Amino acid sequence: MQPELAVPFAGPMCFLDPEIQQHNRWLKAPGLFPDQKQAAEALSARLPGQKVGLWLPGDEYEPLSGRQVADPHWHDFDFADTDEYLDTYAAARRGDIEAVRAAFPEPGSDLRDAFVEHFRRLGEMSPYFLDRIDMTVRFELTGEVEGRWDVDLRPDGVRVDLGGRARQPDYGFRMDSRWLAPVIFGQIGWEDLFLSLRFSAWRDPDIYNDYLIGFLKHAEPQALQAIATYEQNRSSDERIVVDTPSGPYEIARYCPHAGEDLAIGSAVGDGVIRCLGHNLEFDLATGACLNARCDPLVTRRLAAGSRPRRAPLTTPGGVGCCSCPIATMERRSGVLAPAERQAIPGTRDETPAAVLAAAAPGVAPTRARRLLDIAVAIVVLGLVWPVFLALALATRRSTGGSAIYRQLRVRGGRNSVHAAEIPQHASRKDGAGGDRSRR
Ligand code: FES
Repeated sequence: MQPELAVPFAGPMCFLDPEIQQHNRWLKAPGLFPDQKQAAEALSARLPGQKVGLWLPGDEYEPLSGRQVADPHWHDFDFADTDEYLDTYAAARRGDIEAVRAAFPEPGSDLRDAFVEHFRRLGEMSPYFLDRIDMTVRFELTGEVEGRWDVDLRPDGVRVDLGGRARQPDYGFRMDSRWLAPVIFGQIGWEDLFLSLRFSAWRDPDIYNDYLIGFLKHAEPQALQAIATYEQNRSSDERIVVDTPSGPYEIARYCPHAGEDLAIGSAVGDGVIRCLGHNLEFDLATGACLNARCDPLVTRRLAAGSRPRRAPLTTPGGVGCCSCPIATMERRSGVLAPAERQAIPGTRDETPAAVLAAAAPGVAPTRARRLLDIAVAIVVLGLVWPVFLALALATRRSTGGSAIYRQLRVRGGRNSVHAAEIPQHASRKDGAGGDRSRR
């Protein structure tokens, strides 16, 4: 499908509280939070010929005419002046920011007990998640309440050590206790804290534990159970084939993490496939997830040039996915970049005949067609058989029997005649005269 217009519509974060304003540096290329201009330029570079829009808040767009009406608010705005713009904006919102800070006062020492209780309750919510988290998380607190608190999240339960004695925590969060307190006392969720970027974090080894983040983010038995049920019951035999520089692989179509359709949402490098859902990478040879704690991807190496024996997959758009090579990507400087998009069977890039040949080994008649063929054969035989019978009778009447019958009589017993007794002229095969002489 060729879009009429591509528009980056989620603007970057901007940090107005002086405490976290340093994160605005990530707006600059190659930052974590590209602005609309960077995103539009990236789209134009990746999609030559694609019309790309650059909109700002308040702009209007008329889909039928394709006319964009810019909001006059931005008439002297330039993305090159983002720093200046953000300073002005932060100054304008200073009162709002102070009001929010005042709503979250410094905590008291009761934060310690509340922290223990918080994780005790979390530990009762989902054995499934605990089983998969299976690690120690350290909280290093600064501010009014200081401490080094370790939380052991293991298959056999949750333990909190406010002495911070774990020898090798896997994950660590460092933050002002002021921002941990509203989570522990139930005013905001863990996700609000994570999105605020009012913390720093580390992990060792550098393996993302999606179950830990999901556990904290949802922190509610029904939501966790829904995820567990989904993950435990999902099953799909659907496979796709990905081409890599080292040969093709047959893999599960859906990502084991959260079910992204890898036929359209992945990038393939040499030996690695990256799901674009959340950037998890899987080793194509083993299926193992390389950068996160996740179930392995089902994968199988194919002989070069081979295709799956069975290719019945059909997307709503009618594309056979088993033989669908997705975009071939190559690794450059640790980043998977698009290289060459290959023909997708069933699209205009490939002939229907080629698709049919790839999808099915042959064409078989239907059951109705088989029955019709049998009926026609019976009718034809019924019509032809009397003709053969009439011919046989006519022959018998005119020659005294068929050539076979005559041969039997020649070799036969009492009622037969020996060849020697047959008059010479009767042994000729050339006419009725001989047969008539034996009658
Ligand atoms: S769905 Fe999340 S990485 Fe694939």
